[in-house]
Amino acid sequence: MSVAFINGEFVPVEQKVLPIDERGHQFGDGVYEVIRVYAGSPFMLREHLQRLARSAAAIQLQLNYSPDELEQYIGKGLEQANESEAEVYIQVTRGITPRQHLFPNASASTTMTIRPARNVPQAYWENGVSVALMDDERWANCFIKSLNLLPNVLAKQTAANAGHYEAVFVQNGYITEGSSSNVFVVKAGKLLTPRNSKKILSGITRAALLELALELGIPAEEADISVEDLKAADELFITSTTMEVMPVHTIDQQPVNDGKPGPITRQLQQAYQQLYRKMIVG
Ligand code: PDD
Repeated sequence: MSVAFINGEFVPVEQKVLPIDERGHQFGDGVYEVIRVYAGSPFMLREHLQRLARSAAAIQLQLNYSPDELEQYIGKGLEQANESEAEVYIQVTRGITPRQHLFPNASASTTMTIRPARNVPQAYWENGVSVALMDDERWANCFIKSLNLLPNVLAKQTAANAGHYEAVFVQNGYITEGSSSNVFVVKAGKLLTPRNSKKILSGITRAALLELALELGIPAEEADISVEDLKAADELFITSTTMEVMPVHTIDQQPVNDGKPGPITRQLQQAYQQLYRKMIVG
């Protein structure tokens, strides 16, 4: 089942709890994380909590719980939810206080939901998905996992309306990232992904894959990737906590290579699965 958490209390997820003056929904003034739970264990929890702290610091937001406290609450929530395959969503905002633009004199507000993991159809992982290229109209600080996701939402919906799974953002002819994922290409046996910068979210899955590539002896590099490079890729895939390693078979109706997931994509897909299975076994 699903459970919700608001500032120290667990409540049923259906319960209406958010006060009208919560800055998260008035200003999007907050940051968040999504964590995947495999076999009852939150995967790469430390990395997610560290990124939450970085995002909060970047918007001068002081968290109201320490990483250890958050970890304990996640554990309690998981016990209550009694789900082994789950998704944890944590959101921290600048508090609950009458609406005014200036930072309020209030402590942060932390909410969380724990739900059964969304089912990604197995066929997507096997055969791949299609993506649409879209202008990156977001702000200059995409390294912050901010609640302000309107451009991402609009881009993903526009892509979905045209039958695509994901929108891939393009800025001045170069790929940044997906609306909720990072992008990787394989060219001549080499794995390439856009450089870490303020223009993209430093994905936890992305970092794990770069490490796996190193371990597997797959040459990998952070690089500038143009739209032409993307379209000429031998292999293409996108990554996120929930999508894991998702092959891409088509970009704007044009097949990637022969339209089938390639060998390096497959190898990394399996290595990533092994990584979370290994972490669970300990
Ligand atoms: N999104 N880039 C963006 C814009 C994202 O929103 C996400 C993840 C990623 C991948 O990051 P990670 O590998 O750490 O999940 C990249 C989450 C899953 C979401 O908003 O639901």
